[in-house]
Amino acid sequence: MIRMTLMLIPMAMARMRESPWSSVEGPLGLTLVAAPPVIQDGGEVIISWKNLDQEHPNDYVTLTCGPTADKNDFLQLRNVSSHFVQFDDLYMLRCPYEAHYYRYGKDGESQLLGSISIPMVDSFNTPKQGHLGFTDAIDEMVIMYNSASTQTPQVKFGTTSHNLNNIRSGKSTTYKASDMCHEPATTIGQKFFRSPGYFHSVVMDGLVPLSEYFYQYGNDLDGWSAIRSFISRPALGDNTTISFIAYADMGVDDSPRGWSTSLRVFEDVVNKDYNSFLLHFGDISYARGVGYMWDKYFALIEPVATRIPYLVSIGNHEFDYISGGEHDPSHLESFHPSWGNYGADSSGECGVPMVHRFHAPSNGRGLFWYSFEYGLATVIQMSSEHNFLPGSLQHSWLQATLAGIDRTRTPWIILTAHRMMYTTQMGEEEDLRVSLHFRAAVEPLLQQYKVNLVLTGHQHSYERSCPVYQGKCVENGTVHMVVGSAGAELEQQGFSDQIGEWSVSHINAFGYLRGHISRTKMHLEFVLNTNGNVYDQVELRPWQ
Ligand SMILES: *[C@@H]1O[C@H](CO)[C@@H](O)[C@H](O)[C@H]1NC(C)=O
Ligand SMILES: *[C@@H]1O[C@H](CO)[C@@H](O)[C@H](O)[C@H]1NC(C)=O
Ligand SMILES: *[C@@H]1O[C@H](CO)[C@@H](O)[C@H](O)[C@H]1NC(C)=O
Repeated sequence: MIRMTLMLIPMAMARMRESPWSSVEGPLGLTLVAAPPVIQDGGEVIISWKNLDQEHPNDYVTLTCGPTADKNDFLQLRNVSSHFVQFDDLYMLRCPYEAHYYRYGKDGESQLLGSISIPMVDSFNTPKQGHLGFTDAIDEMVIMYNSASTQTPQVKFGTTSHNLNNIRSGKSTTYKASDMCHEPATTIGQKFFRSPGYFHSVVMDGLVPLSEYFYQYGNDLDGWSAIRSFISRPALGDNTTISFIAYADMGVDDSPRGWSTSLRVFEDVVNKDYNSFLLHFGDISYARGVGYMWDKYFALIEPVATRIPYLVSIGNHEFDYISGGEHDPSHLESFHPSWGNYGADSSGECGVPMVHRFHAPSNGRGLFWYSFEYGLATVIQMSSEHNFLPGSLQHSWLQATLAGIDRTRTPWIILTAHRMMYTTQMGEEEDLRVSLHFRAAVEPLLQQYKVNLVLTGHQHSYERSCPVYQGKCVENGTVHMVVGSAGAELEQQGFSDQIGEWSVSHINAFGYLRGHISRTKMHLEFVLNTNGNVYDQVELRPWQ
């Protein structure tokens, strides 16, 4: 494991390093050339070299950004097999990228022949990674963003794009490696913890219900984001049709994967007015201690998440840990029932990056469980990674929340959790076992309070149940949908009708869910990423 002390590069030094053609010559005086000389956020760079007689088959070039422990601490490595190497996926990490050319030595020691620092087009203080979220008040919307800046974050907003006459200031937060629970998340290195910059949040308040608002975030010193718009939340009891998006298990694997989900969702949001909210119930970036993957993930969702509120809950890959529980931001005993498979799937992050990077209403347990009312629907996002058994804090909260819903005002209840209660996915025996316990603990509440829809992920596929109760299709029951194929690698095995006859539709394919909710029906469609076709659809009727 690589260990080192994290240093912030003083601004003067950072600026000095930004001069485009600078290169540090190694013992052999190798001069490296970067093309383009300045990197775009998410871009690529080709590194070539001058005054080298001949490449050696063991030569290689590494790419780093920010402080490194030693020459084995790098982000990417390319073996030299031609007269240049290419690095891609170069997102804003708030540090200058540097390429280093090494010659592999006789006794296994590599010798540095030359280096080059490659600046980014944008300053490290540029507002990036914008995403909208809900607060507790229906006349508010919160914008969160990231940068290296310690200036007070601000937002300007208004009902037309050329008159952003309201201005608000917000606050900023960050986290350190030592704030998390255990290794490797607490390890500092190029491919482990790196300084995440600051997470800024600013609340836009006094919003008129269901109105289009234009906004821009940043401040006069650091610059402002592009102007974006969103639709404010409806008033309580509003009957306007809701159009929403839902998925789980996304991650930042190479395109198409989550990138095609994001692109299709973007088209739905911009061209088809799916602009109420987006639910992402766990397994968010799959960073698991690899800091730069969080930056990549926010670049992936930014076009969508700056246009509709992006509401997350946690999955095993954000939360599950095996030690260091005193750092757990939910401040609850970790959940390790004998029948469970709750291991170290967050690689020690234990939800710390999540609580700094996202905002949630505070009527439950912070980001871990909460509910919100949106016109005709009440949405509850719970945690399958915390104790959900009868008698637990979460179970009691869930019951009280369900009991408190005014069904004449919100005839629809949607409950989400990361793990499923109903699955016929083969090859996941441990998850199947957990699902039966989850079902036994929570299904009585679903029936008692007539929960219309349960959305889950965890299983990397799509699956829909009939209205079901205690494993049987019934006239009045909850419909369960697994929408866990937003980008993470698909399940390798099919489905078994031996596990349950209630599974009416399923497929191992990438896609996402979109829905329309009116007072008389809820229409849901599972969209395939490969062609944009609707693979499965269902219309739910009120259950009262
Ligand atoms: C580079 O070459 C070394 C040894 O020849 C090999 O072990 C390594 O996998 C290669 N790395 C990449 C990224 O191609
Ligand atoms: C919404 O519809 C219900 C049932 O038709 C009605 O009682 C209620 O007044 C409506 N709410 C608004 C704000 O129009
Ligand atoms: C299902 O709900 C409807 C509407 O409330 C009711 O009329 C019907 O009797 C219920 N069916 C069963 C089997 O309980």
